This record gives sequence, structure tokens and C-alpha cells, in this order.
Amino acid sequence: MGQITTCIFDAYGTLFDVNAAARAVATMPGQAEFAAIWPQVAADWRNKQLQYSWLRTLTGAHCDFWQVTEDGLDWALERAGHDDPALRAQLLELYRQLPPYPEATEVLSRLKAAGIARAILSNGSPEMLAAAVTSAKLGAVLDDVLSVEDVGHFKPHPIVYDMVGTRFGVMPDQVLFVSSNGWDIAGAAAYGFQTIWINRAGDPVDRMPGRPMVVARDLTAVLDQLEA
Ligand code: LAC
Repeated sequence: MGQITTCIFDAYGTLFDVNAAARAVATMPGQAEFAAIWPQVAADWRNKQLQYSWLRTLTGAHCDFWQVTEDGLDWALERAGHDDPALRAQLLELYRQLPPYPEATEVLSRLKAAGIARAILSNGSPEMLAAAVTSAKLGAVLDDVLSVEDVGHFKPHPIVYDMVGTRFGVMPDQVLFVSSNGWDIAGAAAYGFQTIWINRAGDPVDRMPGRPMVVARDLTAVLDQLEA
């Protein structure tokens, strides 16, 4: 294993809490009906968003991640029988300002102080990633924000992971790749990155050829790994 010089983070679900938009709307006045169904809507939204990204990659019908985010939400709201244009607009607006997980800023700051390069590598479009990074105030602790739009394919296509070596001039085994998405970790591990799967929900490991090097409950494990 190479000496780790570079930490690469997935964005949605890893640094940013993807359920926060639906959870926030559920607590607003007048949203009692949505409060009863939001966990299912949030889960359907995320699952369809990801499925559409993979299906579009497989079928050669790429669009950007904002489009699959809108399409996934439309599917989830229709399934819930909750066709409300104002609610849809509110959920999408909140998705552009997702909060970071509580430990994210501190972990990135400590990596910066330790001289480790830090970047996001995300399926997100440049525009939605810029909005999220600004709203979460993470710009000062990141060296770069890499979007798949520069290569026109979604993760876990290996061409996306190539973007790290191109940007930072490092070999795959000098990279610690951090993601909460089991499928992303499978892709990154098969590619040759060192990996930490942030398994906040305690899910089983994905049955794919690439397995996580480390499984952890939150991002502080990244610091532990570099100290080990
Ligand atoms: C990301 C999503 C897919 O790439 O989590 O940020």
C-alpha cells in the first residue's frame, strides 16, 4: 500500500446529509401530511436518483445529476400521491443547501493541517456542488471539487476515478477514497484506491468484487486511518 497523500470524498450522503431536505420540510408548519410520509419519499428520491444515473450511463443517455435529482423526486412524490408543485420546489431548493454532517468540517480542517490534499469527487453537477460547498462553508478546507460532468459518465465508471490521478498526479494506492455509498466504494476499491466506507446505517457490504478496506460509522475514521 502506498503512503496516502490525498483524501477524496464523495459528496451526497458522505459530506452532505441527503435526507435533510425532506426532514426539514416535514417539520414545517402545515406539513403534517408530509411529516407522515417523508422517510419513504426521501428513500425513494435517493434510490431513483441513483438508479437513473446508472441507467443513463448504461444506455448512453447521460444527463447531469440535477436532472436525475429532479426526475427521482418526481417519481417519489407521484408514488406517495403527493403532487404539490410548491412542495417540489421547496425540496429542490433545500437540496441545493444540504447541511454537512456534524464532523465533516473538523475532519477536513485537520486533514488540511496535516498536509493531506482534499477534494470532492461527485456525480453532482458543478453548479449544484458549488451551491452545496458554499452553503456548508467547506470551500476553505477543500483543494478542489471534481464533477463527473468533466468526463460525461457517472460513478462507478472507472473513467471518473481517473480524474483524481489527472488532477493530483498520484497513483491510485496513494489515495484514500471516502464514501457512504457501498456501490461507490466497490468501484473505487476495484479501481485501486484505498477506501473507507462510511456505513452510518450499519448496512451489509455490497456483494461486488471491490470490497472496502475499512468500514466506519462516521468521517472521524479518516483521521484514525491516517494516524495508524
Ligand atoms: C455523489 C453521490 C452519488 O457522487 O453520492 O456525490
